[in-house]
Amino acid sequence: MSKFIVIASGKGGVGRTTLTFNLGVGMSLFGKNVVMLDLDLVMANLDVITGLLNPDVTLHDVLARNRSIDECVYEIEHGIRVIPTGIHFETLRHINPKYISWDKILEEIGEYGEIFLMDMPAGINSNIFEGLPENAEMIIVTSSTMTSVADALKIRILANELNINIMGFVLNMWYEDGFLLSAKEIESILEIPMIGIIPYDREIDRSMALGKSVVEVNPSSPTSNAIMLLTAHLLGETYEPIEPDKEGIIQRLRKFIGIMPE
Ligand SMILES: Nc1ncnc2c1ncn2[C@@H]1O[C@H](COP(=O)(O)OP(=O)(O)O)[C@@H](O)[C@H]1O
Ligand SMILES: [Mg+2]
Repeated sequence: MSKFIVIASGKGGVGRTTLTFNLGVGMSLFGKNVVMLDLDLVMANLDVITGLLNPDVTLHDVLARNRSIDECVYEIEHGIRVIPTGIHFETLRHINPKYISWDKILEEIGEYGEIFLMDMPAGINSNIFEGLPENAEMIIVTSSTMTSVADALKIRILANELNINIMGFVLNMWYEDGFLLSAKEIESILEIPMIGIIPYDREIDRSMALGKSVVEVNPSSPTSNAIMLLTAHLLGETYEPIEPDKEGIIQRLRKFIGIMPE
């Protein structure tokens, strides 16, 4: 049975798409068959981040033009599959996000992988939350700002109302600052466990500019270790963080997760 991991947030710009991509690469390094799914119909980004750039057929065409979902499954590095959403406003005008039968679409894509990472839109304007599969598990992404946590709380409440299973929150873009909320404070506001804490790190953007994940470009960085620890946690696996400046870091990363011979 496929596993659906829903990456949601209240506020935009807190790193949902970035996390989707990095977790996808992390999971593929663990040998998993991953599909990244862009459900942000209005502000799609997964196509840009995964280097697909203006794909021929997107989820928009499936929703507005009766194209089949099979036509918009693309394969990128590591055998990861991506189902992108378009950026053409003309097509979008023919779609009312409130009246999409998400359950039907999500059932159809089930055959394309074992783990689906679902990059959600910010806010609660779409009916996608109502259409999630019963076994979907949600991660709420937040930064440490008041507004981001307040919006995360709204999503947490909505998810509870809809009986969506929440695994916890990921504190992203974290840095030490007495004026921001601490992990403990956020935990007590959201009343769900923190399952990952990812530092604010410019390397994330730099790696993506190279079309790569930070876990490949700089696997021994605190950011990569944080992402891989979260990946392992989600998969029920263990991960030994990589210390910097050890020989053959990338080889060791690959050996550790068994995709390269000793
Ligand atoms: N941990 C981080 N440290 C620094 N920059 C980050 C981090 N996570 C995300 N970003 C950057 O923040 C911006 C917004 O991220 P994005 O994933 O597009 O957010 P969302 O999908 O929630 O709108 C991007 O430029 C991304 O590279
Ligand atoms: Mg996004």
